[in-house]
Amino acid sequence: MLAGKRIVLGVTGGIAAYKAVEVCRRLVDGGAHVVPVMTAGAEHFIGRTTLSALASEPVQTSLWNEASPIPHTRLGQSADLVLVAPATARLLGAYAAGLSTDLLSNTLLATRAPVVVCPAMHTEMWEHPAVQANIATLRSRGVHIVEPESGRLAGGDLGHGRLAAPETIVAKVLEVLGAGPMAGLTVVVSAGGTREPIDAVRVIANRSSGKQGYAIAAEAAARGARVTLVSTVELPVPHGVEVRAVETAAQMQASLGELAPTADVVVMAAAVADFRPVAAADGKIKKDQGVPQIILEPTPDILTGLGAAKPAGQVLVGFAAETSDLVANARGKLERKQLDLMVANDVSAPGVGFQHDTNAVTLLRADGSATTVALTDKRSIAKAVLDTVCEIRATTT
Ligand code: C5P
Repeated sequence: MLAGKRIVLGVTGGIAAYKAVEVCRRLVDGGAHVVPVMTAGAEHFIGRTTLSALASEPVQTSLWNEASPIPHTRLGQSADLVLVAPATARLLGAYAAGLSTDLLSNTLLATRAPVVVCPAMHTEMWEHPAVQANIATLRSRGVHIVEPESGRLAGGDLGHGRLAAPETIVAKVLEVLGAGPMAGLTVVVSAGGTREPIDAVRVIANRSSGKQGYAIAAEAAARGARVTLVSTVELPVPHGVEVRAVETAAQMQASLGELAPTADVVVMAAAVADFRPVAAADGKIKKDQGVPQIILEPTPDILTGLGAAKPAGQVLVGFAAETSDLVANARGKLERKQLDLMVANDVSAPGVGFQHDTNAVTLLRADGSATTVALTDKRSIAKAVLDTVCEIRATTT
């Protein structure tokens, strides 16, 4: 997916420099030609040999290379993309100010290729107005910033400023280069359980955590797709994913009604309530008014509607949470709802489905084939689902 792409990977002097090694490995695995550049500071954290061994050519550190007297312009001019991970406050300041202080800042000033910068530093430094002003300046010039994450920092402190995960950084590179295997595709994913109001404070809900839907959205974005997640839950938003918050089945239906017609792939991972109160009481139903009679009505089956209105070429994926006769029930739903793929899970099995971080599924395709994925983390399930989606697309488009 990155074949033929020349990426200059700049590494600066922060403790997160060790993660650049993993970023480098992933880019090379993806087919990129990675040209590593280290600052003097970076050499305090990782050895040149490590990066040279994994990159496509030896590390360069100096402007003063007698064998090639103008490397600073060459590196920048020949790059398809320049990536800086981690980027220290010093590097951000030099770049924003247009200062050429070393080979890396030189390369940044000499390039017209897109630039992705991944800052990492202590929270106090990251939040300093000078650093934030530099970030704003770089962003206004079209530099792509991969924001640092919250978590444990060097020295054991907890806070904002930790380098983004290698997979997030690589996903950004793929997105900027338009190079992921799902680049150009629009993917819509629903996640979480709907909440149907009984009164002003009470709802009918279910045990869905939304984790599987979020994992699918994150994986699709990592593959370069444009992803919208229609969600009832608040989990950390995966990089590059746009979230539409909804609560009820009706709101989810309205949101999907808007998004699905132009989507290439729709994954309905949400646990939609099958019944809702006919009318929610105004205010809170009082205990001393006696046991209330709550009259229920069926909710619209969103997926059936999406199946009936499915545009040509769209891949429509449903989820079936079953407690018995997994495959027969799930296949029946796949046919009734006119799906291309049904992800069936036996939620009575240990570690499977609702609220767990793991899942085990059977992937049923409309052509009658079935594949099982044994108990694993939800991101791995997401990969298996999207691999199958891509196979289906390859046979139908
Ligand atoms: O029929 P069942 O509810 O088991 O089907 C599950 C699939 O249908 C899931 O993909 C779920 O998101 C979807 N669904 C829906 N609208 C409903 C109920 C379920 O879209 N009202």
